[in-house]
Order: sequence, then structure tokens, then C-alpha cells
Amino acid sequence: MSKIGIFVGSVYGNAQHVAEEVHAVLSKHGLLSEVFVDPTLDDFKNASSMLFISSTTGQGDIPPNLEFFIQDLRDQFPLLEQKPFAVVGLGDSSYGETYCGAGRQIFELLIELQGKPITALLEIDACETLEPEAEVVAWLENVLSDFA
Ligand SMILES: Cc1cc2nc3c(=O)[nH]c(=O)nc-3n(C[C@H](O)[C@H](O)[C@H](O)COP(=O)(O)O)c2cc1C
Repeated sequence: MSKIGIFVGSVYGNAQHVAEEVHAVLSKHGLLSEVFVDPTLDDFKNASSMLFISSTTGQGDIPPNLEFFIQDLRDQFPLLEQKPFAVVGLGDSSYGETYCGAGRQIFELLIELQGKPITALLEIDACETLEPEAEVVAWLENVLSDFA
């Protein structure tokens, strides 16, 4: 059975909370998924489609828990051969130019790895919502069938 890999980058737990909600919604729809907070390249290669949910830290930077993994992807360059993917970026628009910088970096990297984006980067602005999981779940319901 195909498995959706949910790869999480989180500093204070917001993105992780969203990922757990997403995992529950996918299960409810009978879809198998696994949440990775400390992923390996094998986790990445074994997923049949992938959803990255990452906050941004520093100045447009990837959260520390994903930093080495993203570096491994850049170094090893495991091609995705058109596997479907989506990226959710959690950020804060008051950071200006670096808004959702990690999500943007990840989205571009997955394109370079020849993944197939099922939709544009979803940006969740902490200035606009106190319930990121509600926005992400509403979005997910619309794109769900494209993960298969
Ligand atoms: C030290 C720090 C730096 C941040 N830098 C950025 C940034 O450059 N761009 C951005 O969009 N958001 C930035 N944020 C906002 C976080 O990405 C946002 O609050 C997010 O919801 C945190 O999710 P998390 O708990 O999963 O880490 C920053 C937050 C902190 C505390």
C-alpha cells in the first residue's frame, strides 16, 4: 500500500501539531501515512508521496531538526521521478522578505529533485491565524486525492 511521508520541521511545536492533525485526517480517509521529525534518506525514498510541513526559523532558515536531512537531500540528490509532493510553510509575515523561507526552500528543492507538486506552496501566516491546523486540514481535504 502506498504511504504518504509527512516530514516535519518545527521549533516550538506548531508545525508538529499540524502534522499530527494531518496524520489523523489521512487515517480517517483510509490513507496510510507516517510523521517524521528526524527523517532519514530511506524514509524519504520509501514514501510514495510526501508532504512537508515546516515552520521557518532564524532569518528564513530551516528548523534545526530538519537541517541535516535537507543538507543530505542537497548532497545525495535522490531523484523523485515525479512522485507527488506538497509543502506547507508556517511563518509570520512580519518577518518580511524571509516569510515562509524554509517552506520556499523545501518546495524549490523538491522541484529540483523532480517531484511533482500537487499544488502551490501553502503559506500559513501566524499573523493571520491562531489555528493553523484548521486551515491546513481544510486545504488537505481538497488535495487529498492527488496524493494517491
Ligand atoms: C526566532 C524566530 C525566528 C523566526 N523567523 C521567521 C522567518 O524568518 N520567517 C517567517 O516566516 N517566520 C519566522 N518565524 C515565525 C515562525 O515560523 C512561526 O511562529 C511558526 O508558526 C513557528 O512554528 P513552530 O512552532 O513549528 O516552529 C520565526 C519565529 C522565531 C521565534
